[in-house]
Amino acid sequence: MSKLWGGRFAAATDQFVEQFTASIHYDARLYPWDIRASMVHCRMLARQEIIPPEDANTIVQGLQRVLEELDAGQLPFRASLEDIHMHVESRLKELIGPVAGKLHTARSRNDQVATDLRLYLRDQVDQLRHGLRAMQQALWALADQHVQTILPGMTHLQNAQPVSLAHHLLAYIEMLDRDQQRLGEIRQRINQMPLGSAALAGTPFPVDRLWVAQELGFAGVCRNSMDAVSDRDFAIELTAASALLMVHFSRFAEELVLWSSPLLGFVELPDAFCTGSSIMPQKKNPDVPELVRGKSGRVIGHLVSLLTLMKALPLTYNRDMQEDKEPIFDTLDTVQGCLRALTDLIPGITVRREVMGKAAAAGFTTATDLADYLVGKGIPFREAHEISGRLVRLCIKQNTTLDLLPLASMQQVDGRIGADLADRLTVSASVNARRSLGGTAFATVRAALTEWQQAWQQEALENR
Ligand code: ARG
Repeated sequence: MSKLWGGRFAAATDQFVEQFTASIHYDARLYPWDIRASMVHCRMLARQEIIPPEDANTIVQGLQRVLEELDAGQLPFRASLEDIHMHVESRLKELIGPVAGKLHTARSRNDQVATDLRLYLRDQVDQLRHGLRAMQQALWALADQHVQTILPGMTHLQNAQPVSLAHHLLAYIEMLDRDQQRLGEIRQRINQMPLGSAALAGTPFPVDRLWVAQELGFAGVCRNSMDAVSDRDFAIELTAASALLMVHFSRFAEELVLWSSPLLGFVELPDAFCTGSSIMPQKKNPDVPELVRGKSGRVIGHLVSLLTLMKALPLTYNRDMQEDKEPIFDTLDTVQGCLRALTDLIPGITVRREVMGKAAAAGFTTATDLADYLVGKGIPFREAHEISGRLVRLCIKQNTTLDLLPLASMQQVDGRIGADLADRLTVSASVNARRSLGGTAFATVRAALTEWQQAWQQEALENR
């Protein structure tokens, strides 16, 4: 098999080196974008009278056949052809003959691969952003049913204050929204076209980069040819945003693991998303959330790989950069997989309201409400805190709870406590008292749910 770059070489490539340098086994997935960009590049060459129009037609038609063969899985991959770019060009040559050689005019694999990668990542980002909306909406639908469901809000994994389950779920909707925005910002930087930078210095041919960019849906062109072929910051940013997204997924997954444990018993996960044990017949394990939590590690690792890969490379292209693909591809595969798993799992979650509600009352979670009540009587918060703490101690001693402690016992601790305290110490009164902007009161949470719904309706209208 003769190499497309064989002219300078007297001896054949070592067979192991062929395997060692090949990337086709992972960059094959770039073919739809590679061929699309090649078609536009070729049409531009004809428009600019760099190659004859009939040659351009032959090439574009040939590329269409190569695309169909690849779609059908009919093109055999060979390590000797290195990468996807060489496979496409070499098959094109088999199909249409030497005129295929005109396609690579005014172009290099350096600007080609950077263009392909950006086109691929742009599509991936669009899918991800779409998928994140769907996951937010799945969380929203669950939250919508559970505004009045109360669970213990925690700090240090200790019962802190009762909160609405919807409020807890809305916290994740917020996190995912920032992820979604981050991806949108990164998309703008991905969406700049390197093509036309050629190897590193630009090209002597009268190319029309702006036309090519427009045809490929790029918002603009990379302004410096050396930067265009040598940076991968757009891929690193996307991996960083993905790592952060995975951290959010992982925290949610961790909560599902905790909540579904018999220790808490707050939720039951759908059978279809759990597995059993080969030895313990009673087990139902939360494998899907566990794997989501576990997979966050590999994406964080990919971020470190990519940063390390790039950190000492001199300008411009270096073959090291071929190593960018596996981490970025695996990052996206992992994120897309986790996104799908969680989105599909959420509607199957069964919430055990009573268990959550009971847990919300345990651990004197309304002690702050008691202190707040005393503040209402003109007592400084620090002193109120002290009194409330003493009452908690009394409850522990008498093995009771704040709302069940007789008024007389309370008044022995502090005479300013009145009968009006009684209905302030239930969990629902506690939740409902927190009407501050962004707080957990039922009405506040309901309003937040409505706001999200309206924002998404608005977005759907704008995207129509
Ligand atoms: N497969 C290569 C990569 O992924 C394509 C660019 C090769 N360029 C070169 N000058 N060898 O980076």
